[in-house]
Amino acid sequence: MNKQQLIAGNWKMNGSLEANDALVRALVAGMAGAQCTAAVCVPAAYLAQVQMLKSGSALELGAQDVSQHVQGAYTGEVSAPMLREFGVRYAIVGHSERRQYHGETDALVAEKAKTALAHGITPIVCVGETLAEREAGRTEEVVKRQMAAIIHVNGHCISEICVAYEPVWAIGTGRTATPEQAQQVHALLRKQLAAATPHAERVHILYGGSMNAANAAGLLAQRDIDGGLVGGASLKAADFLQIIASARAA
Ligand code: PGA
Repeated sequence: MNKQQLIAGNWKMNGSLEANDALVRALVAGMAGAQCTAAVCVPAAYLAQVQMLKSGSALELGAQDVSQHVQGAYTGEVSAPMLREFGVRYAIVGHSERRQYHGETDALVAEKAKTALAHGITPIVCVGETLAEREAGRTEEVVKRQMAAIIHVNGHCISEICVAYEPVWAIGTGRTATPEQAQQVHALLRKQLAAATPHAERVHILYGGSMNAANAAGLLAQRDIDGGLVGGASLKAADFLQIIASARAA
């Protein structure tokens, strides 16, 4: 299905008031006339700043995580209703760095996606295999297990989520999946979604992992790749704008 692609930047724990100012101003100026949806997922501390800087532009705001709880005694957490107050439209959930360094399980990630949806935020749910899992021929089993947990908890709302296929071995390594490798996994994720919803074609399945200005067009040309989740290259305005320009319109 032809739908406008989504290019989301994941700043991770990078930025400063000064650097964000220059980056967002350059993005807003450079993306006028962009054919795709573009978003930046920024550290929670900078939501207010970026909300202000991007105001009046088509650039969307995203967060990098969201609590599964709505409010209460959860020190350090940020809730979906709080994110909404800053105009947040997307929240990454289940990024491999959170799964790895914060022990986030498939079940927790699914709960976070559910809470985000319930408060009008589109979760960008990350799935992906490690290098050891790929080499052991377990890619399909791993991503299907991760996806099944999300489908199980989110039921008929599943067509409202975004998925990001991010092979862990490709993140921040400069070792991108080939367009064919990525398409293969995207196609099986689409099939899994199609078994759960008649609207699987509507779901954006993004690719993430060393996407850059040079390789974006090849990846984004694949049938089941509906956009990108971009880490390192989203911190450089020229590179991120180049990726946005490579994306497909509706
Ligand atoms: P990368 O990160 O583009 O720097 O590989 C992608 C991600 O982790 O979302």
